Amino acid sequence: MKKTSTAKKVKQIAILASGGNSPGMNNVVITLIKKAMSLNVTPYLIYDGYKGLLEGNFKKVDKKTLRWIENYNSRGNIFIGSARSTEFYKPEVKKVAVKVLKDHKIDVLFAIGGDGTYKGAAGLSQFGAKVMGLPGTIDNDISSSEQTIGFFTCLNRIVNVLDALRDSFDSHSGICFCEVMGRGFSDLAIYAGVAADAEAIVTKDNIKTKEDFLKIANKVKANGKRSCLFVVTESLYGKDGLPSLQEIAKWIGDKTGRTTRVNVIGHVQRGGVTDAWDRANASLMACHALDCAIKGNVNRVISVVKGQIVDIDITKATNMPKKKNKMDILKEYKDLALM
Ligand code: F6P
Repeated sequence: MKKTSTAKKVKQIAILASGGNSPGMNNVVITLIKKAMSLNVTPYLIYDGYKGLLEGNFKKVDKKTLRWIENYNSRGNIFIGSARSTEFYKPEVKKVAVKVLKDHKIDVLFAIGGDGTYKGAAGLSQFGAKVMGLPGTIDNDISSSEQTIGFFTCLNRIVNVLDALRDSFDSHSGICFCEVMGRGFSDLAIYAGVAADAEAIVTKDNIKTKEDFLKIANKVKANGKRSCLFVVTESLYGKDGLPSLQEIAKWIGDKTGRTTRVNVIGHVQRGGVTDAWDRANASLMACHALDCAIKGNVNRVISVVKGQIVDIDITKATNMPKKKNKMDILKEYKDLALM
């Protein structure tokens, strides 16, 4: 009885994605739509993130549209588009966005994305909007959640690439530097490096000099291994007085006479087929988010804590200290990598 009366309060919801696309975002959207429809709540899509919200780029979803949308179930894109909006940091812009939501009679906004998306949503809640955040980023860097939607798909993609690089560099007794994404946080580099049995994994907390790399490459060769694979978190080299990876590779190539190359994987990491875990996790998180909204438990973000899907106050979540790199994993793995 209680549930029915509160459910009436949520008549219309809107869904947007913001920040870099992350495989599994589509599954959040699809499940939110289905669950909303099952509860007689009308779902709206907002195209191109907060920018689309400001521009009133809304589309009501009906059953026929849902049948078409379902085709995106396995794809790593976000079919409603995403955008990064620095404009949205401004309070006066957030006020406008809240008015747009009101004008469209949206009771709860569901925002999928990373830290920036959460901060945007938290700001909207301060001006009176009701919001729910869902963790969509490949970087796995959201403080409030152990897992983010898209991380596992991206990790698998990186490991596939590293395996292929191993094949090529094994064939030529070469040394390979492979740069992976992560925006300053190294879960992708660490787990991918361990999974691909890389000879070294580099994060901001264990920066290596060109001499360090040379020493490792020589040790690996002395151990009888043909190739040497270094997994390096993006944006560390070529700034703050450090040479670029290209410069380091050239120096090592000259010193060793071995084929030494840099491979930057790039945006292939954010697309492709979404893996099963990200799809399932995304759908379960979406169900939890809508359940919360229906109960009036709004201004929350959905998180995985101790393996369970839970919800946390959005302001508390956005004020949590940044996640630290898992250097304990690297400590454990470092010597094994050089056996
Ligand atoms: O946050 C996701 C991410 O892919 C980061 O890993 C990376 O640093 C950044 O986005 C790249 O941004 P862009 O696609 O704008 O180049």
